[in-house]
Amino acid sequence: MKNVGVLGLGTYVPDKVFTNFDFEKILDTSDEWITEMTGIKERRFAEDDMETSDMAVLAAERALADSGVDKEDIDLVIVATSTGDHRFPAVANIVQDRLGLRNVPSMDQLAACTGFIYSMVTASQFIQAGTYKNVLVVGVDKLSKITDFTDRSTAVLFGDGAGAAVMGEVEAGFGIKSFELGSKGSGGPHLYDDKEDGRLRMNGREVFKFAVRQMGESSVNVTEKAGFTNEDIDMLVPHQANIRIMDAARERMNMPRERMSCTIDKFGNTSAASIPLSINHELKSGKIKSGDNLVLVGFGGGLTWGAICLTWGKNKEETHD
Ligand code: ACO
Repeated sequence: MKNVGVLGLGTYVPDKVFTNFDFEKILDTSDEWITEMTGIKERRFAEDDMETSDMAVLAAERALADSGVDKEDIDLVIVATSTGDHRFPAVANIVQDRLGLRNVPSMDQLAACTGFIYSMVTASQFIQAGTYKNVLVVGVDKLSKITDFTDRSTAVLFGDGAGAAVMGEVEAGFGIKSFELGSKGSGGPHLYDDKEDGRLRMNGREVFKFAVRQMGESSVNVTEKAGFTNEDIDMLVPHQANIRIMDAARERMNMPRERMSCTIDKFGNTSAASIPLSINHELKSGKIKSGDNLVLVGFGGGLTWGAICLTWGKNKEETHD
């Protein structure tokens, strides 16, 4: 069995910061309500002329540089997004061209906020099977493009951003140990983009109930499947949707706050980008190190969910205790 993991990571967030106080000026809301109910303080919004693919390319360039893998050696591109530039071509096709990759297969994967997990698992299966060696995975969303800025119950939740990983074979003891993916299409009407105006609609209460249960359950499942206990997990990296949902998953895992990644205050919910953005943040602050066991867990429109248990890093050489 090959060990498959992340060879390099890169992210991008737009410069423009939009705070809860900015929302107070355009909606009947308050910093206090948003902070208490969601954990969000501010989020980033891309300018009108910055497309989803622009953010994807910037994150992917950084991931490639971090991995040390040559562009020539990328065999497949998967982009997780629900806010592509067009219905087609796929964002992945644009990324493949803009990065000057070989004419390798490139495709978008739509699992909303679970997209990065779905795409990591898809990539790992191709690598595991020996079909492809190095796969570029991007999670990117420009949610501001589909947000209804007159609806206070959704507008305050979302932000824009991108994260990318180059995945490939890693040394024994590193990489993905277990995963779980799932979907429940009957829950689709709780979270969707409206055919009439293309704006995001959400039944917040229903999504909340589903997420609280599923995030905890999937985290426990992948931990057990990997042969670990919660004590072995150095950090839980949940999809950053709402601090109360994230805390519920963490409590189910019986882990303290210090061992959960939390970037929702800075970026809001960036959908497919939220997990790589969080990992990158923790790597920079030294809270995730090579050799650490992580549980990545997400849920999203579909309804979809997924979790991965992995040991971060590529080899023993770069692991310091
Ligand atoms: N500011 C002030 N008040 C607000 C706001 C706001 N921004 N938004 C809603 N309210 C009000 C409502 O109008 C309501 O008032 P009312 O009682 O007078 O009618 C009250 O707050 C409670 O509203 P609820 O929607 O019932 O509040 P709830 O406790 O469900 O919290 C929230 C709302 C934060 C959206 C929560 O439901 C939630 O987090 N849901 C999950 C969201 C999520 O994670 N979505 C992920 C999808 S991402 C993807 O897949 C693309």
